Amino acid sequence: MAKILFNGLTGQVGRALHHLVKKDTAHEWVGLATKDCDLTKPEEISQAFTKHKPDVVIQVAAYTAVDKAEEDSATAFAINEASTSQFAQLCKEAGAVLIYISSDYVYHSITDRPIKESDPCQPQGEYAKSKFAGEEAIRNSLSEHIILRTSWVYDKEGHNFVNTMKRLGGSRDSLTIVSDQLGAPTYAPDIALTVLTIVNQVLTSSDPSNLYGTYNFSNSGVTNWADFAREIFRLEQIPCQVAEQTTEDFGAPAPRPKWSVLSHAKLKSTFGITPRSWKECLKECLS
Ligand SMILES: NC(=O)c1ccc[n+]([C@@H]2O[C@H](COP(=O)([O-])OP(=O)(O)OC[C@H]3O[C@@H](n4cnc5c(N)ncnc54)[C@H](OP(=O)(O)O)[C@@H]3O)[C@@H](O)[C@H]2O)c1
Repeated sequence: MAKILFNGLTGQVGRALHHLVKKDTAHEWVGLATKDCDLTKPEEISQAFTKHKPDVVIQVAAYTAVDKAEEDSATAFAINEASTSQFAQLCKEAGAVLIYISSDYVYHSITDRPIKESDPCQPQGEYAKSKFAGEEAIRNSLSEHIILRTSWVYDKEGHNFVNTMKRLGGSRDSLTIVSDQLGAPTYAPDIALTVLTIVNQVLTSSDPSNLYGTYNFSNSGVTNWADFAREIFRLEQIPCQVAEQTTEDFGAPAPRPKWSVLSHAKLKSTFGITPRSWKECLKECLS
């Protein structure tokens, strides 16, 4: 029986993973919150690793406050890069596999087609740079890894666009929302299921080296934030009008990629995973 250690237990993806695996008797799963292992404290990372002796580590936790990272990049890099680098080193010494949840923000490119994992990365802003630095720390030290880049994560609970729209839309007649960023919302339980599928295949493969590497995962389809809001209001029967604005006019502190449409071809051909559509998942989340 393999032992799998994951962090970010109180976050959107960590909660979804915990919910999914709590009845899994094939492996032993241990979820860590910040109080169990603070990623800004290297000694706590070493202690958690020594205590649990994992075969697989899933680095779900991250510094995710994209705009705040512009003023607090030291903490963003400590959590997203340094702690990841430490886990990679510990996994290497112990012969364990590391799975790292990363972000569409690492690409920050404009193409006329879904972005492939092999496309160049030009992360802009401290959050994006720190996530990419975490990826690079793994790639430079540990072959036995899976990096899963996802986008626009939401869940029933948590700080996310869906819950913000429900709250604001319920109290206002109209909202002005950015419409020039294109991508796909991704439902946290679908990320959790993808992670579980990957873990199972890595642990049962006779040659997992064929599976290691970097993959995209998002729900399928393409939308922008304004249309995403309209779909939330339609499903929730909230009579709030949506006006559109540009990324530049909105003026967030951190840069945002305008094209975050991810190709799923590599994930499909390697793991046989076909993402569900974002509209189907949103309906399920709101039901
Ligand atoms: N959210 C998105 O739109 C999005 C998009 C693309 C990729 N991603 C990636 O997906 C992954 C999961 O994101 P999410 O949406 O689940 O994030 P989230 O809901 O913001 O949760 C982040 C988690 O990280 C934990 N964490 C933060 N600082 C920590 C520290 N010092 N020590 C230990 N744990 C710490 C948080 O714990 P506390 O509750 O104690 O703070 C929380 O459990 C992340 O790697 C993120 O970069 C997210």
